[in-house]
Amino acid sequence: MEKINAVITGVGGYVPDYILDNEEMSRIVDTSDEWIMERIGVKTRHILKPEQGSGVSYMMKRAVRQLLEKTQAEPESIEAVICATTTPDYHFPSTASIIIGALGLKNAFGFDMEAACAGFLYALETGSNLIRSGRYKRIIVCGGDHMSSMTNYQDRNTCPIFGDGAACVMLEATTEELGLIDGFYRVDGEGYEYLHMEAGGSRNMPSHETVDKRLHFVFQDGRPVFKHAVTKMSDAVELIAKRNGLGCDNVDWIVPHQANVRIESAVARRIGVSEDHVMINIDHMANTSGGTLPLCLWEYEPQLKKGDKLIFTAFGAGFTWGASYLVWGYDGAKEAAKSPAVFYKEGKMSREEWKEICTSRDS
Ligand code: UT7
Repeated sequence: MEKINAVITGVGGYVPDYILDNEEMSRIVDTSDEWIMERIGVKTRHILKPEQGSGVSYMMKRAVRQLLEKTQAEPESIEAVICATTTPDYHFPSTASIIIGALGLKNAFGFDMEAACAGFLYALETGSNLIRSGRYKRIIVCGGDHMSSMTNYQDRNTCPIFGDGAACVMLEATTEELGLIDGFYRVDGEGYEYLHMEAGGSRNMPSHETVDKRLHFVFQDGRPVFKHAVTKMSDAVELIAKRNGLGCDNVDWIVPHQANVRIESAVARRIGVSEDHVMINIDHMANTSGGTLPLCLWEYEPQLKKGDKLIFTAFGAGFTWGASYLVWGYDGAKEAAKSPAVFYKEGKMSREEWKEICTSRDS
């Protein structure tokens, strides 16, 4: 029997139209554009305002709808939906079930996966294995977070970092040597004290006290997280590169989790890949947690060509981390005529035009 691979055949994305820039951030907490740009590399982030919508499903539904339009896939042809998110609409039911119901994907099953900022990486591996099993031919993997729902806007250590957004990919079966080829994933459980949300789960249930103490927000001790992120992502990328005969001369793209532009540069330096081969959108997307990797694909899709070699890497709370090697499945330029995010990123579109496009997508 021929080997079945799981290849990405389309990308959809969504970011809310409200743009919170560093000037506004400096009026919320004691910070400055200079500090945020120098230490993190974020200029603006998209925020889902309650008057526009709420819940991560609001964004994922829009991303999936765009994906179905772009790929011309019939809703009935989707066999599974996996959502990587740390900010599901509810503890239950799953975000996947909300999306499946709302979009009429009536032949699909689905579930959520929570691995913080490494969630999409794990979901891509899981989805690919469903396809490789031979039982499924077409599934959707979503990654995204409504980070503003758990960001403490009184804490300058964390609030400039995060933004809201979601994106998704179509995974399909192929016998070509394309798609997810290799992966290295780990969890060490040592990161709890540095990065967590203290209350709201079954261990520390919500109460007046937990609300008063502001325990329902992200807590992060940045420096140790930074150190672990650089080391673990770099090690994972190096391992995957070596194992697959990849190096600075033949890797087309590094797709890193967008936590801090200094981390992204350090990872690229380690395997000697120049920065123009690293997908970076943290400047205008910030850290959307489970959304960073697919949102990178969404924005860079026009530049991707069939056969391009990509290494994904991510790091998140837990700690969770890893790297994947993927061969791209199609020429992006043909598919991505509708990805204006790229024009915005390249400065060919004004902030107002970009905002208008984000708003008009919001149907
Ligand atoms: O996505 C999951 C994984 N997450 C990550 O990978 C994040 C990793 N960590 C980081 O990216 C960085 O550690 C941060 C961006 C969170 C912080 O940058 P840093 O260079 O590690 O700063 P720091 O926390 O060591 O703080 C340095 C100084 C402190 O002042 P003192 O104590 O030196 O006087 C902070 O109080 O900067 C101060 N500071 C700020 N100043 C202005 C902290 N936040 C701000 C701020 N504006 N927003």
